[in-house]
Amino acid sequence: MHVEAGAIGVCHGPRCSDYGGRTLAETLEARGVSCEQLACQSLCTYAPTARVDGVAVLHATAEGIALRLQE
Ligand code: FES
Repeated sequence: MHVEAGAIGVCHGPRCSDYGGRTLAETLEARGVSCEQLACQSLCTYAPTARVDGVAVLHATAEGIALRLQE
């Protein structure tokens, strides 16, 4: 899977970290998808959050991000 550098970001803020954001980032990296570490996106209610091409992904999962990349 080819992904532009910086196209994916995962929130590393406190709430998203508590809800698996850092683990999500590690999972993506293990799959060869580099992702930027983002500060709190003010979407904490929807943790963990990510961004794909500037669009927020709420309750983000590796599978959900993969689907977004295919769109
Ligand atoms: S901690 Fe992730 S959106 Fe606030």
